[in-house]
Order: sequence, then structure tokens, then C-alpha cells
Amino acid sequence: MRKHLADQHVLLTGATGFVGQALLEKLLSAYPDTRISLLIRPRGSQRAADRLPGLLRKPVFRQWRERVGDEAANEAVRQRVTVVEGDLGDDSRPQLPGDLDAVVHSASIVSFDPPIDEAFQTNVNGVVNLYDAIGRSGSDPHVVHISTAYVAGVRKGVVREAPLDHDVDWRTEAAAAAEARAEVETASRRPEVLRKAMADAREEHGKAGPQAVVSAAEPARRDWVQRRLVDYGRTRAQSLGWPDVYTLTKALGERAAEDLWAHTGHRLSIVRPAIVESSLRHPYPGWIDGFKMADPLIIAYGQGILPEFPGLPDSVVDLIPVDFVVNATLAVAANPPEPNEPGYFHVSSGARNPLPFRGMYEHVHEYFRRHPMPDSERGHVPVPAWRFPGATQVMRMLRTGEKAVDYAERALLRIPATDRTRKWQSDVHRRQSELEVLRKYADLYQAYTQAEVIYDDRRTFALHRTLPARRQDEHGFDSATIDWEHYLQEVHYPSVTGLMRAFSGRARSSAARDTALPESREAAAIFDLEGTVVASNTVEQYLWTRLASLPRSKWPRELADLIRNLPRYLRAERRDRGDFIRTFMRRYEGVDEAELRRLVDDTIAEAMLQRTMPEAVRRIRAHREAGHRTVLITGTVDILVEPLAPLFDEVIAGRMHSRDGVWTGYLDRPPLVDEARAAWLREYAETAGIDLAQSYAYGDNHSDRAWLELVGNPQAVNPDAALYRHAKRRRWEIHSWGTHTRGRLAAAASAVTTEVGR
Ligand SMILES: NC(=O)c1ccc[n+]([C@@H]2O[C@H](COP(=O)([O-])OP(=O)(O)OC[C@H]3O[C@@H](n4cnc5c(N)ncnc54)[C@H](OP(=O)(O)O)[C@@H]3O)[C@@H](O)[C@H]2O)c1
Repeated sequence: MRKHLADQHVLLTGATGFVGQALLEKLLSAYPDTRISLLIRPRGSQRAADRLPGLLRKPVFRQWRERVGDEAANEAVRQRVTVVEGDLGDDSRPQLPGDLDAVVHSASIVSFDPPIDEAFQTNVNGVVNLYDAIGRSGSDPHVVHISTAYVAGVRKGVVREAPLDHDVDWRTEAAAAAEARAEVETASRRPEVLRKAMADAREEHGKAGPQAVVSAAEPARRDWVQRRLVDYGRTRAQSLGWPDVYTLTKALGERAAEDLWAHTGHRLSIVRPAIVESSLRHPYPGWIDGFKMADPLIIAYGQGILPEFPGLPDSVVDLIPVDFVVNATLAVAANPPEPNEPGYFHVSSGARNPLPFRGMYEHVHEYFRRHPMPDSERGHVPVPAWRFPGATQVMRMLRTGEKAVDYAERALLRIPATDRTRKWQSDVHRRQSELEVLRKYADLYQAYTQAEVIYDDRRTFALHRTLPARRQDEHGFDSATIDWEHYLQEVHYPSVTGLMRAFSGRARSSAARDTALPESREAAAIFDLEGTVVASNTVEQYLWTRLASLPRSKWPRELADLIRNLPRYLRAERRDRGDFIRTFMRRYEGVDEAELRRLVDDTIAEAMLQRTMPEAVRRIRAHREAGHRTVLITGTVDILVEPLAPLFDEVIAGRMHSRDGVWTGYLDRPPLVDEARAAWLREYAETAGIDLAQSYAYGDNHSDRAWLELVGNPQAVNPDAALYRHAKRRRWEIHSWGTHTRGRLAAAASAVTTEVGR
């Protein structure tokens, strides 16, 4: 046995990743005589060498820096660490040093479901590129290839530390994966795919305007490409006996390493960790870099959004703390096998210290019972009790839930928006997100939580036992020593939920700060009228004018005529807001403008003010006090909104065409709605010196989306179902404002329009 890598030159790939950081820290802190080269890829405009200072400031190095002092730490890095730039996924052909003793290859795509070509690019072609680079360098190192225990694929029983038993040709699969993208890109441009993308975009964004449809159609095509390539990967993997493209490509990566290195007369060891989680002891208990494999599931459970899960209660969840993986890998690196005789090591816990899925659930349940996640409405989140009814039943529950939510969402989009329907919609939205999380995790994790497989780790344990007793505490990796209750409840769960708690604390305090309006002379507050400032609409305002001008005896006839035509107006409204305004305004044909002005002064002004929402008025005043320019913009005709003019700095309203003082029923110019309003707002901001990023815009209808999106602070007021859904997804502020008083005229008109809306 070579002595603990002393005086050796080790190349490490993947040092910026979770396992790689821990390996680098251990080499720096506990292997003082080892020289280290790091293969790092550039990121954006940042060169590989420029990534090193940021990497060394990460928490994993904190204890070491504190122990030796910053100066000594920097000096050690200067003397011992060299950065080699290279991306294993492309043909950049990195220049490796010619005196390497060992290579620890940790770089990999670790997500379960990347597009097929991306997974092969790093996990298979990357291996080929690595051996090509080692071959060109003139070094003959011992390569420690980090794989995963799950390369064994879907099988039951004990898996030995040995070569994988399959005859899949990695070169053929890699070539097919590389071709898949071109194939799918071509397919995505077929008319039937584009038609579907356009139809979906029209259904969701049609009311927001034609540009919104076009700008949604192309991303929808790209999403389709992405989903299809993910599907290619997953389905190909499953057809060959692996749960996902990650494990398939890791398995084929092992075979490539055997073919290109071990069987060409070199030394190769394959280290297969199970699910790597936070460290038990080193560099400090609970160290982890972001959320790892099992953590999203743990967090989702703590947030109360996993009512059940399709896992087998007696299947073994094979967790292993990252410091065990680091110690095992470095011990393997110091003990090379003979050329042509690769060594295999499972770094796992399932064989000698099994943690059943039920046991993990009980620990997590107990942990969140004692330390629940905070919740703004309920104080804390209650966690569900799982009964493990079996995968078939959970998946059936999931499908039924998805259908019900889909149906409810469609139904809610068709009925008029009220506070109550928005509350229902909010419930549907929450349920939908929960089901999406459950579906995603069920698909991703099923293979891991239903596995009836045990990774035998006798060789790894034998290697552990070769360590001198004095090194075992600090460098050992005997998984039988892990006390799960202590590790999960005292170390791992507090560590992963700490990130979440810190995040939700920050989100709460920033929400509290955000209620006041910041002062600015460059900001504007732009308000839509109907449903936003006044609780009325075009139909109701028309009724005010007609009812005010007719004797009471003629009201029923006028109302009957309006009701008869309403289906036509509603159809136009659903199609396009501008079409609706054009069609409806024809009813004003023959109106005497001077007479209407008199009516507005006498009665309509009062109705309008009675329907004005007090919260809107307060908000407009608050904007004025903050120095913002207040603007009302509406498709309603100017004469009707004159009563509201004093509230605003500027009013932009529609105008009717008139001949000899009598309205012709045509508009004088196209209505300023949806994308036309967005174009106007851009122009307005430029000429009036308004900074849209600082500005506010208030609207209630999905057709307002395009112009609301232009400002930094979009606000949805009493939104219709489609705008509500959009606002929720984008985390816009949503207001529920109402009126308190009602006059006779307003009440009569409102009664009719409410009736019609049903
Ligand atoms: N985490 C686990 O639970 C687990 C379990 C079993 C086995 N493993 C194995 O352990 C190893 C490390 O996993 P991890 O959790 O540390 O993954 P990770 O956090 O995702 O880190 C991946 C590392 O690979 C680098 N990388 C990816 N593609 C690259 C490319 N084309 N060229 C050069 N570098 C590239 C990344 O660099 P950038 O910073 O530039 O992205 C990063 O440093 C992998 O081989 C994985 O299969 C992990």
C-alpha cells in the first residue's frame, strides 16, 4: 500500500460539485504532502482559474481556514493546487500534467432526467474525453472513477462489488443519443406540432393579444423539444433495465472506463456511492452543498404537500454521509489494483446497517412534529401521517386528483370572478402544485423508494479494516457505525431544513418591508378603470346612461333588448376585448352628446363615484404622496369618466365618433386595450420620462396582462380567473377591493349585469 497519497500528484475532476468540494477539502486539510490538479470547466465568461477563489470561500473550507489561518491556507493553495481548464462534454481536449499518480473522476451530470444527449455528453463521452486527455499527457495514473450504486439498474436482491452484467454497447447508444436532438428539433417543426403549440398558446394567452400568443408559441416548441429528449432518455433507459438516463449513462460510463483504461493495461478502481447526504462529522456535522437527492422529498414532506408516497415501507433507503464517501474514495486512491484487474467498491449502508423507508419516514415525521415548518396562516405546517397503501393505490389517487383539479380549473375559468371564486381558485392552485410535486417525485423516486436491492459492501469494509486503528476515526468509512436516529434527527434534517427556514424568514421580512410605497419622481401608477378603480363595466355604464334618459316604464324593454344581445357580446369579449368594445359601442348610435353630458353631470357622476372602490382611492392617493404620476387608462368613453378626472394627473380614455353632435356608434380611434395599451405605455414612458421598472400598474382582466408585464410592480385587482392564475404563477401582488355604497341607478344596473354574468 502506498502511504496515504504522500508525495503524489492527484488530478480531481468535479471539484466545484458536492462530493468534489468535500474531496478537495480533505486533500487540503489532511493530506499535506499531496499535490492537486483540478480540472474545472469555464462558466460563462469566467475562466476556470477565476472560479477557484470563489470555490475556496465556500463553507466546506471554513474550519480548515480557521484552523490553519487564512495566510497559511492561501499559501498551501498556491503551492499545492493547479487549475487545468477543460470541459469534458466538448472537444476542448484539456492538457493534463505528465506526472499524475492518481485521478479521481467525480465530474458528472447528476440529475435524474436530463435530455438524453446532455446526459451522454458528460457521463459517457466525457469519460472518453478524459482517457483521451490522460493518454495524451503521458501519465499512467491509477484512475478512481466515481460512479453510483444505482448502476445495477432495476433488479432485486444482493448486488456484488463486481463488473456490471449487461451487453449494451455504449458506443452505439452514445451515437444514437447524439443524433436524438437533431431528430427531435426537426420533428418539432412539423405543422401538427406547431399547430398544437399555437392552439395551446392561443387558449392561454389569446386575450392578452397576438404578440403574447406568438411569444408563447416558440417557447412552447422549445419546451416540447426538451420534454421529448427527456422522454427519449428515460424510455431508452427503462427499455434497457435502468430506472432513468442518469443511471444508464453512469453504467455505460463504467463500461467505457473499463474498455478504454483497465483493459488496455492500466489501473482502474470504480467507487459506487449510494445516496450521498450531509456529512456526519467532517468538515463539520451537517455540511451539505444545497439540496441533494433525498432532500426535496424531505422538504416537501415538511411543507405538508406529500399526503402519501408510493414507496415500499420495507425497501432500504441507502443513505451515506458525504464524509464516508470522501474517506472511502481517498483510501481506494491510495490502494491501486493491478493493471487489467479493476476494483469495485460500494460505499453504502444497506447491507450492514439498513434504514428501511418506513424508518426514514418515522424519523422525518418525528422531526417535523417536534420542529414544524413555519406557516404564515396556520402558525406551523402540520405533517401528514403516511399509511403506505401501496404504489398502485397512491398512483390511482394521484391520477384521480389530477383529473379533478384539471376539471375544476377549466370550470373556474368560465365563471365570473368573485372573491369566492378566487378563493376556490387559490385552493385549486395550491392543490395543483401539490399534485405536481407528488407526480414529479413519484416518477423520479419510485425506483429508489421501491427498490428491493441490497448493495453488498464487503470489499469496502475490508478496505476500511486495513486502516490503522488510529486513522479509523478520522479517515474511516464503516457505515455500520452510523446511528440513524442521531444522524437524521440531529444532523441531517436540521441541516437541510435550516436552508428552507432561513429562506422563508427572509421572504417574510421582505414582504413586511414591501407594504410602503417608495418615493420617486420617475415612477408612474397606471390604473385600468373597470373592475380596478370602479366596480362596474362597459355594460353597466351603458345602462346608467340609458336608464337615466328613459322613463321608468321603458326600462323593461331596454333591459330585455340588452339581455337578448348579451350572448353575442360575451362571445366577442371572450375572443378579444377590443372586438367587444367595438361591437358594444354600436349601441350608442344616435346619442346626443350634449344631452349625455348633462346626464353625466346630473346622475351618472353620482353612480360612478358610488361604484368607486375606496381601496383604489386610497392607493391612488398613496401614489400621489410618494410623488408618482397617477394615470387612468380606459377603453370607456371620455365623457363617462370625467367625474373621476380629479383623482388622477392624467386620464386617457376612448372617444366616440360624432356627426353634428350626435354619436355614430363608431369609435374615433381603436380602443386602447391589451397589446395596444402596452405599446401606448412604452411610448408614454419614453416621452414623459417615466421609469417603468419603478412603476406600478393595476388591472383586473387577462387582457391587461401585456401592459401589466411592462412595469416593475404589476398589481392584479379582483382579477378574472386567467389573470389570477398568471399573477399567482408570477407572484404578483393580488388585491381584493370592493365598494360599500350603492345608489338607486347603480344598484339597478348592477343587478342586471350580475344576473347576466351568471
Ligand atoms: N450526490 C449523490 O447523491 C451521488 C450519489 C452517488 C454517486 N454520485 C456520484 O458522485 C459524483 C459527484 O456527484 P456530485 O453530487 O458532487 O455532483 P454535482 O454536485 O452535480 O457536481 C458535479 C460536478 O461535475 C462537474 N461537471 C459536470 N459536467 C462537467 C463537464 N462537462 N466537464 C467538467 N466538469 C463537469 C460540475 O462542474 P460545474 O460546477 O462546472 O457544473 C461539478 O463540479 C458523480 O460522479 C455522481 O455520479 C453522487
